[in-house]
Amino acid sequence: STKKLWGGRFQAQAETWVDEFGASISFDQLMVDEDIEGSLAHVKMLKKTKILPAEDCDKIAAGLEELQQELHEGKLHFTVENEDIHMNIESILTDKIGPVAGKLHTGRSRNDQVATDFHLYVKNRLPQIINEIETIQKTLVKLADENVETIMPGYTHLQHAQPISYGHYLMAYYSMFKRDVERFKFNMKHTDISPLGAAALAGTTFPIDREFTAKELDFSEVYSNSLDAVSDRDFALEFLSNASILMMHLSRFCEEISMWVSYEFNYLELSDKYTTGSSIMPQKKNPDMAELVRGKSGRVYGHLLGLLSTMKSLPLAYNKDLQEDKEGTFDTVKTLLPALKVFNGMVSTLKVKKDNMRHATENDFSNATELADYLATKGIPFREAHGIVGQLVLQGLQTHKNLQDISMDEFKEISPKIEEDVYEVLKPEVAVERRNSLGGTGFTSVRNQIKAAKAQLNMD
Ligand code: ARG
Repeated sequence: STKKLWGGRFQAQAETWVDEFGASISFDQLMVDEDIEGSLAHVKMLKKTKILPAEDCDKIAAGLEELQQELHEGKLHFTVENEDIHMNIESILTDKIGPVAGKLHTGRSRNDQVATDFHLYVKNRLPQIINEIETIQKTLVKLADENVETIMPGYTHLQHAQPISYGHYLMAYYSMFKRDVERFKFNMKHTDISPLGAAALAGTTFPIDREFTAKELDFSEVYSNSLDAVSDRDFALEFLSNASILMMHLSRFCEEISMWVSYEFNYLELSDKYTTGSSIMPQKKNPDMAELVRGKSGRVYGHLLGLLSTMKSLPLAYNKDLQEDKEGTFDTVKTLLPALKVFNGMVSTLKVKKDNMRHATENDFSNATELADYLATKGIPFREAHGIVGQLVLQGLQTHKNLQDISMDEFKEISPKIEEDVYEVLKPEVAVERRNSLGGTGFTSVRNQIKAAKAQLNMD
């Protein structure tokens, strides 16, 4: 273990393995771009406010820019001795430009530095995630457009409930993703705030200009309280929470894909590109990617719970516990982006077995509500109608007859008010087509949803 940047007051040095325990460089190097960017803004401010002589600032800025260059050429090497990305960069800068590098940290602390880097990291990823969600929304709208009149059983309790349009089903997910986009956009509001200049916890006596660095880094606001600035991780918690809800949505769709490609449902077929075979069973075509997207929701929830638990009871202001904020957040980004991409690929290549979906509504009693509603329109109180149809279902189950198989004579016995037009009403597509209450599964209603979605997404 070598002499530390902060080593002045120390007489003994930690063992290497203790350094390794405390170090974050193995993961926080992911914020190296943000770290250099933050330092460039800081040194520019030190020059502008004349806190440091201009020539020192120019040397430091030039050195940092060289580091940026070397970074992208893969020439920067980090060490555990330098603990984290902040001290690694400062140490490399010192090797490059000499002791003047030590002036960079004037009026700044690693506490506001790490908070700045982390804000920038999340801020830079939010638009990427929003973009991937919008791609999925477009895919869903396109598929919905092709399936407005695709009839399938709608389920409650996983039991056939009422027939619906598959397009309507798809637009339900569109709506869920719309809220996800809104949540991530709101997430930006609490991320787009600059902690830089809060220093260690209390601000600084140097005449720094926080508005200036915020502007340099493209932050819309500055934290108004230095204690809050260095210890707030709400933006990351909101991010993890939004990511968890998004993964939950993906997992529900993926669960339905997995069920619906099964022999028992056989409503959908996945492209070979998103399925895998079995090493023993030659016939297998497994929905591995759908299962994996579903499964990865678990680790994202874990990261949310992890950071909530880290933050719980944490006294103000900075504590080393806060170093635990990063890995789960980084892993969430690393999980989310490919999961969204795979999901979009799967859905955009999905084969919809329209006939099988339609067929599943033919031999069931999912038109029972239609008959009850029909009787109600003939003046029979709905409760009574419900009872009558319930009896018919019971009889039908015993005699293997569906409602549409009941003869006109039999219907007349139940109520003379039943006419020939009942058979039309009992057809699943008619049941769907007519449900045009606002937000219903009726064809017109689904087309309206698609139209609004297209306008929202600027689709043709
Ligand atoms: N590596 C630290 C982190 O990720 C940086 C800040 C350290 N500050 C301190 N006073 N130890 O949180």
